[in-house]
Amino acid sequence: MELTRDNVLEVLRGVKHPEKNSDLVSLQMVDNLRIDGKQVLFTLSLPKANDPFTGSIKKACENQIKNNFGEDIKILITVPVSVGKVKIDKPGILPGVKNIIVVASGKGGVGKSTVATNLAVALANSGFQTALVDADIFGPSIPKMLHLEEMKPQVHKVDGRDMIIPVENYNLKILSIGFFVDPDDALIWRGPMATNALKQLLHQGDWGELDFMVVDLPPGTSDIHLTMVQEIPVTGAIIVSTPQDVALADAVKGISMFRSEKINVPILGLVENMAWFTPEELPDKKYYIFGKGGCEKLANQYKIPLLSQIPIIQKIRESGDLGKPPAADKNTILGGIFRDLAAKVVEQLEKRNKELPPTQRLIIKN
Ligand SMILES: Nc1ncnc2c1ncn2[C@@H]1O[C@H](COP(=O)(O)OP(=O)(O)OP(=O)(O)O)[C@@H](O)[C@H]1O
Ligand SMILES: [Mg+2]
Repeated sequence: MELTRDNVLEVLRGVKHPEKNSDLVSLQMVDNLRIDGKQVLFTLSLPKANDPFTGSIKKACENQIKNNFGEDIKILITVPVSVGKVKIDKPGILPGVKNIIVVASGKGGVGKSTVATNLAVALANSGFQTALVDADIFGPSIPKMLHLEEMKPQVHKVDGRDMIIPVENYNLKILSIGFFVDPDDALIWRGPMATNALKQLLHQGDWGELDFMVVDLPPGTSDIHLTMVQEIPVTGAIIVSTPQDVALADAVKGISMFRSEKINVPILGLVENMAWFTPEELPDKKYYIFGKGGCEKLANQYKIPLLSQIPIIQKIRESGDLGKPPAADKNTILGGIFRDLAAKVVEQLEKRNKELPPTQRLIIKN
C-alpha cells in the first residue's frame, strides 16, 4: 500500500481503544497526521490524562503501520502529557520550522507590522529561509506593506491534503488572511471565525523548511495571542513600543502575558520605534517627540535586551504605503537599521536556544 495520509488513517481504523469499543480514527483520537518521506507523525489525543492504555495503543499503532507499509517506516507518535489544567506536548507541529518569532505590542499603531515585515526581509536578505505570517486577522496589513494586495494564493495537494502555497516576494514566504478576504470584511469576523482562519494559515500553509517564521500579531492581548501559543510552539516574542507612557504601560501588559506561567514564551527583546525625529535639513538634531529613553528604562526594569531604536523617518511611512520595505535596500541607512536588528534577533535566539528548552505548545483542556 502506498504511504499516504489517507491510507495511514485507513490502517489506523484497525486499532481499537480497549475501553471504548471503537477505533481511534472514529473516536477522533488521531490528530495532526503528517507523512514526511518515510516518516509518519501524529498526535494521539486520548480521553483521559495519562491514559493507562497509552503504551499499548501506541504499540498497536506502530505494528499496524509497519505491517502495512514496511518495517523501515519511522513512526513518531506524540501523546500530550497532562500537567494540572495545562497539557504540554512534544514536536510534530511545523516540524520543518526551526524558530517561530511573534512580533507583539500592547498598544496599536506602534509599528508592529513595519518591524515584523522589515525584520523578515532582513533575515531573508541574510540568507535565512524565512516566512512572514500576518496573524492580524481583523486588520491585516502585510499584503499592503509588500504590495501584494491582489495576490490569491493557490492550493495544492500534499499527501492527499489541501495545502496553501505561500506567496513569495523579497525571498519570503508570505501568508495573510488579507489574501482571502476583503480587509473591510475581516473587521466584522467574529472570534471563532478569526481563530479558525489563523489556524488554517498556520497548519495548511505549505511552509517547507524554514529557519524563521515571523508572525505579525494584532495589538493587545487577545484571543489570537492565545490561539498562537496553543497552535504552535512559539520560540520567542519581540515587543514593539514607542517611548510614550501609554505605549510603555501597554507593553508591560504584553510582557506580563508572555511571561505568565501559562503562556511562558521567552521575550527576545524590545524594539523602540519612533524613538526620535531628525529633520532632513537638521541632521544633527534629534527631537524626542514621544519622550526620551522610555524603552531603555523598561528594558532595564524587566531585564529585556533593547534590540533597536528606530527613529521616525518619513521614508518608513512612505515605503509602508508603497509596499516597498526599506529593509530590502541593504545599502541605505534604513536598510542598515533593520540588518542590525536581524543580527541582534539571531544573536538573542541563539542564546535562548542554548539556555532554554524548546517552547511547548500550550493545550488547554476543556
Ligand atoms: N519609524 C517610523 N517612522 C515613520 N512611520 C512609521 C514608523 N513606524 C511605523 N510607521 C508608520 O506608522 C503606521 C503604523 O505602523 P504599523 O502599521 O507598522 O503599526 P502596527 O503596530 O502594526 O499597527 P496595528 O496595531 O494597527 O497593527 C504605518 O503607516 C507605518 O508606515
Ligand atoms: Mg499591524
